[in-house]
Amino acid sequence: MLLEKGYVYEPIDPDIRLTKEISRMRKEKNAVILSHYYVDAELQEIADYVGDSLGLSQQAELTHADVIVFIGVHFMAETAKILSPSKKVLLPDLKAGCSLAESAPAEKFAQFKARYPGHKVISYINCTADFKTMTDVICTSANAVKIVESFPPDQPLIFAPDKNLGDYINSITGRNMVLWDGACMVHEQFSPEKIVELLDLHPDAEFIAHPECKKPVLLLARHIGSTTSLLKYVQKSTARKFIVATESGILHQMKKSCPEKVFIPAPSNDPTCACNDCSFMKLNTLQKLYLCLKHEKPEILLSPEVIEKARIPIERMLELSR
Ligand code: 13P
Ligand code: SF4
Repeated sequence: MLLEKGYVYEPIDPDIRLTKEISRMRKEKNAVILSHYYVDAELQEIADYVGDSLGLSQQAELTHADVIVFIGVHFMAETAKILSPSKKVLLPDLKAGCSLAESAPAEKFAQFKARYPGHKVISYINCTADFKTMTDVICTSANAVKIVESFPPDQPLIFAPDKNLGDYINSITGRNMVLWDGACMVHEQFSPEKIVELLDLHPDAEFIAHPECKKPVLLLARHIGSTTSLLKYVQKSTARKFIVATESGILHQMKKSCPEKVFIPAPSNDPTCACNDCSFMKLNTLQKLYLCLKHEKPEILLSPEVIEKARIPIERMLELSR
């Protein structure tokens, strides 16, 4: 067996039934499997809980399991560790990062923040644990408006790291938050022109979008919301066809709960790429999940100082979301 940076590489016996073994180990180790809507369908199906960033944080805080296996990306697993520091938190592939979190290095943000004395910081949960330590309150796309409105109207605010979400929240709340210049590579690539063309081809379709998309895309949307909000919207809408501007993984739950409806991934400028797939989320596989549970590696480790400081703004968010 070869061990490198917390990874365990080993051939897997092809006769092993991975899902059965994963379920056996999950029971034996008192582990809970939490999956984000963006991972592959089979990894959503095997999860004890599948949801958006807010729901996953709430589960991570409440679970009685000894081990949390996070099928998502690094900042999500870090958040779980911060909320449940006594538990072992595993991420099947430590390379599962996030372009948005990477667009916000903590040291650069410290300099940025220093230029705005008197400002409170609201950070989107898609940021590193170090970044969270410089934050007053965390938010997700599901509760961003509520979190922003929890501050008095005259309180100057910085919103980081997603400029598209920040701009959208400014437009809804009438605030003028200072925005950090970060974005998600998946949500930035949707083409408003191609979406208009597609809507012309499917006049009966409703266009729905995640608020990480750029403004020209959001202006076309009938409904804007977090992954859970988009899912709930398609369930209750009377429309039978939807063009969906977010990561492709959510289509699994949409098709599962509304098999009679049609879901079309929103187009990008480049028809040749799998642009709607988050390459970080898609690093998670059944094989890696199996090895991760078997060896209890790779594990998320954070210093007690970071946990203590980063926990404050996350708990504030959870408190305000109850
Ligand atoms: P939500 O699931 O909270 O809407 O977040 C989307 C996302 O980009 C997670 O990486
Ligand atoms: Fe990060 Fe975007 Fe992937 Fe979400 S979809 S994990 S924001 S890169």
